[in-house]
Amino acid sequence: SKQSEDNLRSPICCIMGHVDTGKTKLLDCIRGTNVQEGEAGGITQQIGATYFPAENIRERTKELKADAKLKVPGLLVIDTPGHESFTNLRSRGSGLCDIAILVVDIMHGLEPQTIESLNLLKMRNTEFIVALNKVDRLYGWKVCRNAPIVKAMKQQSKDLQNEFNMRLTQIITQFKEQGLNTELYYKNKEMGETFSIVPTSAISGEGIPDLLLLLVQWTQKTMVEKLTYSSEMQCTVLEVKVVEGHGTTIDVVLVNGVLHEGDQIVGPIVTSIRALLTPHPMKELRVKGTYLHHKKIKAAMGIKITAQGLEHAIAGTGLYVVGPDDDIEDVKDAAMED
Ligand code: GTP
Ligand code: MG
Ligand code: NA
Repeated sequence: SKQSEDNLRSPICCIMGHVDTGKTKLLDCIRGTNVQEGEAGGITQQIGATYFPAENIRERTKELKADAKLKVPGLLVIDTPGHESFTNLRSRGSGLCDIAILVVDIMHGLEPQTIESLNLLKMRNTEFIVALNKVDRLYGWKVCRNAPIVKAMKQQSKDLQNEFNMRLTQIITQFKEQGLNTELYYKNKEMGETFSIVPTSAISGEGIPDLLLLLVQWTQKTMVEKLTYSSEMQCTVLEVKVVEGHGTTIDVVLVNGVLHEGDQIVGPIVTSIRALLTPHPMKELRVKGTYLHHKKIKAAMGIKITAQGLEHAIAGTGLYVVGPDDDIEDVKDAAMED
């Protein structure tokens, strides 16, 4: 209905895949940032969150001339590590999301953590889109910066197109071996049963418009109920960390509901929110930077919370708010069940 369309929250999208397939670089390409180069060893070791306002998505997809209007306020993207030792973080990220991007390196095909990610997604029946990344590494690639993928592909030589098709066919076969049908997104006639593949380059940006548009269109078309804002609090702690000048803080993803400065929160500890902080839109929550202060924040959003006693908070657990009519002991019991 019209009513619920006006009350959609931002979809939460988790980006997953094997180490070094280009997850963080893809986000850097969309944000216009350089997070990946600042990572120790070029390895992601924490969960991140970035908010993309609808306005930026509209700008980034305009060449595709999609007349479908954006109904969601934006997109909240959760970055996860691909290194094998971080299965718990991939599980935490995939447990929060409405949709995922599974990144596959076109030169490597499916790798161990691709399959592990796939199994996490299957387990929860989570929809996903495959980003077939690093197409610029195909021999002789002609850069068409930030172009839609069909346009970029038309500029390529016959030999390159043949190599692309050969690798694509092999990767579709590898997915088939995992029990999944996949197809290039613009050839996919049965979305929902067959998963879509979007070829991308995180270095030169080809396919990024397609990936963003597909994410937004697919979520707002098929997940209206799930994305209808609910005032019932749903909030998960991503990371617990010390930030200079703020003491121990927690990074959370607010999936539903609203948080206010001063709210009494219950995790393993009872405390009240001193400050509600977010990075600027299109900036990574896990990267130290300047924060915006908020009196209140409505879901969905990645938020840094400062408060006393947060050193006792536990990543991966839920955060609960004591409402005016709540009995604090009941809220504590709910929190203990995590
Ligand atoms: P983890 O988070 O550690 O699992 O890695 P990741 O998947 O986030 O990959 P990351 O963004 O760290 O990129 C790994 C390496 O691949 C870096 O050297 C990137 O510059 C390079 N890379 C990523 N995407 C592309 C791409 O589209 N084309 C090319 N040529 N290189 C890329
Ligand atoms: Mg990364
Ligand atoms: Na990496």
